[in-house]
This record gives sequence, C-alpha cells and structure tokens, in this order.
Amino acid sequence: MTGQPATRTKTYADGQLPVSISEGIGVITFNNPTKLNAISAEMAEGLAAALNDMRDDPEVKVVILTGAGDKAFISGGDISQFEKTRPNAEVASRSAERFRQRQAALADFPKPTIAAIRGYCLGGGLGTALNADIRFASTDAKFGIPAARLGIAYGFEGLNRLVALVGPSRARLILYTGARFNAEEALAFGLIDRLLPPDRLWSETLEIARQIARNAPLAIAAAKITISQILKDAQDRDMGAVREIGRICMDSADFKEGRTAFMEKRPPQFQGR
Ligand code: COA
Repeated sequence: MTGQPATRTKTYADGQLPVSISEGIGVITFNNPTKLNAISAEMAEGLAAALNDMRDDPEVKVVILTGAGDKAFISGGDISQFEKTRPNAEVASRSAERFRQRQAALADFPKPTIAAIRGYCLGGGLGTALNADIRFASTDAKFGIPAARLGIAYGFEGLNRLVALVGPSRARLILYTGARFNAEEALAFGLIDRLLPPDRLWSETLEIARQIARNAPLAIAAAKITISQILKDAQDRDMGAVREIGRICMDSADFKEGRTAFMEKRPPQFQGR
C-alpha cells in the first residue's frame, strides 16, 4: 500500500508472543489473555528468541513490550506451571536460572526498550518491566510483587533493579506486604517514568519510540552502554567499552551527518555507522 510503512510480523511461543516491526519499532506483545497474560516458560523462551532475532535486525531501532488487551501487561509467572517448574528448591532453582537467562536477553538488549503497561503488572511481569529501559503506564495500571503471598523468594536481579529505582525502604514495603499499588504511587516511587490516560498510552509510547528511532543509533548505544556501566559496582565497570563506543561515535558518519544537517538546517538522516 503506498504511503504506509511496511510491517513485518512473526509469532513466538505458539502465538503467545506476536511480534511486529514497522517504522524502526519492534513491538512484542504478551498474549495469554485467559490468564491475564501470565508469562509461561514457553513465553519466556519466546521473548529471548524474539529479542535475539531483533538484536541483529538493522530495521529495529527500538523495542516496545506490551500486553494484549486492556486488563494486564503480565499478571506474573504462570502459576499453573509452578507444580512442574518449582516442586522443590533444586528444580525451582534451575527454573529460576533459566528464567534469569531468558530475561538477560532483555536486560542486556543493546537497543532501547520501553514497557507500555496497562492493567496488572505483577511478580515476574513487574520484573520483566523492570528489565526494560523505560516504563510508561496508564492510570489503570496496578503493580505488585505477591511473592510473600505465594511463598516465593524473589530473585536477586529483579530486586536489584527494583531497589535501584525505588530505594530499599519502598522495595521492602512492596515485598513484605505483597500488596498492589496503583500507577500514581508507581510514578511517585520512581518505578514508572510517565503516567498517561489509557486512551493515550499507546499513541504516546509510539511517539516516543519514533523519536528514539529517528535519532543516531550509535549515540543511543553510547548512552545505553554508559548508563549500564554506571549502574554496576565501580570495580566491575567496563570503562574500555565506554571509551570504545565514544570513539566509534566521534568517528562515525552519523556524527558528520548530524553536524552537517544542523548547519544546513535540515533533519539528519542517520545510518547507524
Ligand atoms: N498465572 C496463572 N493464571 C493466572 C495468573 C497467573 N499469574 N493470573 C491470573 N490467572 C488466571 C486466573 O487463574 C483466572 O483463570 P480462570 O479464568 O481459569 O479461573 C484468569 O487468569 C483470570 O484471573 P482472575 O483471578 O479470575 O481475575 P481477577 O480480575 O479476579 O484477579 C489478579 C486478577 C491478577 C489479581 C489475580 O488473577 C491474581 O492474583 N493472579 C495471580 C497474580 C500473582 O500472584 N502473580 C505473581 C506470580 S509470580
């Protein structure tokens, strides 16, 4: 169709994780509506596979994660699988390690990621949102980590991210009570970055994603790498990686294009090199 950007689609996890790519934006949808988008082991595996495919896809500049429908982003791990995946500490620890490895594909994804959250965002769903770079939520979003209500020890990585965003006291409050809190509180806690009416969440998330997709990919990679190093303990930082991406940016055709376009008073056309 003329004038319409081409859209590519693919599904993972037997249709429970549809992906679409258009205008430089990859959209991953958690689609398990009968369980309020609870994330099954298959969906967790599909998420890692989808991200690995988009990692090297030059058409993907930014990824949005969202839930199907308006009731949930993700209602947590699929509790109906827990009998199988967590019958005792040994099996549970292997399952948790697999989940951690699959989530690492998101946490370490080299391009910007945004979680667009409507409805329930609980447990491992909140952990997934925490592994995105940025979180936008609608006013009807509900957050919580009900681990203490189920008898689960929430893992190190998830808590590490939570504590970094909301601080140790609020993290304790969230974990000790297992209670749900609303989107206004999430904004006040620093857990989400933007609060929007439900009918504007998607359009505004897309607009921000488009804005990111128009910018210089190497400069964005530099910001992502540098911020992730800042979040590490000083002795674990890879300052060589920070210097290297800085060098690549300064030598890039895009930097030349950026300053030329500014001088010529026209929008830049970045190539990512
Ligand atoms: N895993 C598996 N199934 C889930 C689920 C989950 N995390 N969350 C919801 N579901 C299922 C429910 O079992 C129910 O299935 P059914 O229709 O076959 O009975 C369906 O989704 C709808 O949920 P329901 O509880 O009827 O909706 P609700 O609006 O009354 O409550 C929640 C919504 C999210 C508050 C409630 O479902 C809930 O507490 N879910 C578990 C959340 C949780 O503990 N997550 C952390 C897991 S680590």
